[in-house]
Amino acid sequence: MITIDLLLSPLSLLLLSLSTILIILHTTTSSRRNHHSPPGATGIPFIGETLQLISAYKTENPEPFIDTRVEKYGVVFTTHVFGERTVFSADGETNRFILKNEGRLFESSYPGSIANLVGKNSLLLMRGGLHRRMHSLTMSFANSTIIKDHLLVDIDRLVRLNLDAWTGRILLMDEAKKITFELTLKQLLSIEPFEWSENLRKEYMLVIEGFFCIPLPFFPLTYRRAIQARKRVTEALHLVVRERRVERERGVKKNDMLAALFDNDCDDDEIVDLLVSLLVAGYDTTPTTMTLAVKYLTDTPSALAQLKEEHEQITRKKGALVALEWDDYKSMPFTQCVVNETLRLSNIISGVFRRAMTDVKIKDFTIPKGSKVFASLRAVHLDLENFEDARVFYPWRWQKISDPANFMPFGGGPRRCPGHELARVALSVFLHHLITRFSWIPAEEDKLVFFPTTRTQKRYPIIVQKRNVVE
Ligand code: HEM
Repeated sequence: MITIDLLLSPLSLLLLSLSTILIILHTTTSSRRNHHSPPGATGIPFIGETLQLISAYKTENPEPFIDTRVEKYGVVFTTHVFGERTVFSADGETNRFILKNEGRLFESSYPGSIANLVGKNSLLLMRGGLHRRMHSLTMSFANSTIIKDHLLVDIDRLVRLNLDAWTGRILLMDEAKKITFELTLKQLLSIEPFEWSENLRKEYMLVIEGFFCIPLPFFPLTYRRAIQARKRVTEALHLVVRERRVERERGVKKNDMLAALFDNDCDDDEIVDLLVSLLVAGYDTTPTTMTLAVKYLTDTPSALAQLKEEHEQITRKKGALVALEWDDYKSMPFTQCVVNETLRLSNIISGVFRRAMTDVKIKDFTIPKGSKVFASLRAVHLDLENFEDARVFYPWRWQKISDPANFMPFGGGPRRCPGHELARVALSVFLHHLITRFSWIPAEEDKLVFFPTTRTQKRYPIIVQKRNVVE
């Protein structure tokens, strides 16, 4: 029980006066800085509006967090989340400006906890000329020509191989992750799925969990486990890289990302960090999109029926057992509408953090040098001004949209996702084989949430049944 003595104890008086000083300091710095910076509320000291944000994003409908602030302060406002005062942009034009000016006015900004997980040589942390060089090298291994000439065959084969084993109840999210991890290993290192890759994937899952720990001054157990798993992952990758160097000296040539990194004279530490970040970047994003596309389609039978017709036309023409080719991928217009609509509505990467490198004037405000900025892709995609009935899954809208300037699921500017085409192709091939080979029903009710990441709470359990396929 709290007594009056305790309330008036010297310690509590000291705490009381300290917090009063902090509140005054916080308020005065807020109002001083607020002079030119975008309006907003920074909540209570240290915590800011983090708790409101988390509780909104843990629900199926997080939009009120943004809607209420946009209504009160406008599309660019100030808040205070995850320990820092942050300028939040819910405006398409501002987002494009921020992303385009990477390296000039803004730079990407990740907390130290994430930097430790991806490694100092990761593409996510690189800057300047080195970033440009490595970004374009990564692009050159995931562009349409490479996909068409090399990767599509593997994507098609690995998707089929995985689907062959499906029966009864499956957790769609886990299955989709397995497929994309195998695809990425093949693309980066020419490694086929076997026990080694499955063990590596399990370590990876621990690393990924570390990304979603809220950065705190003390490290929670999940984060410590992630760091240990990262060490094991890098050891395993170092071994592969060393073996491949020896093979290369013996004249064995392979056509994969690792060979391109050798050609660019990268050292082993740089290569391993880059591989880690590429595996991370593709691991959660594409499979979550695959899972959510299936969920949206299940909930929208008319879209599923139209998609089925598109894919059955392809199998009627060439038979279900023949591998998909580039022309088949290019003859899936409604599939692209479904992919766009899933990306728009679910926003796997809900936005990107940047830091202002100098005072930056945006609209009528100045974003002070050093400020954290969050360009929310989600807010723009779900803005009713930008898309009619923006919060509803309606893939047909993409048959009419001619200027998708406000659609940026893969970001923009120099850091635009180098895996965007690869993700689209993997998604389309996956949907093709799923739809032509299986029917399914949800095994139980599952809910979409957006914190700590976009995902369904139960990893989307479904019951699949094989269909009779046209040979
Ligand atoms: C649906 C799937 C995907 C989505 C929605 C997505 C989204 C994004 C976004 C929004 C960014 C920009 C981050 C920023 O500006 O700070 C990004 C960057 C990146 N993505 Fe993706 N991505 C997807 C799949 C992939 C795949 C399959 C790969 C593998 C090649 C990949 C590799 C990367 C890398 C390496 C970066 C960092 C680029 C840089 O900082 O220069 N992504 N992604």
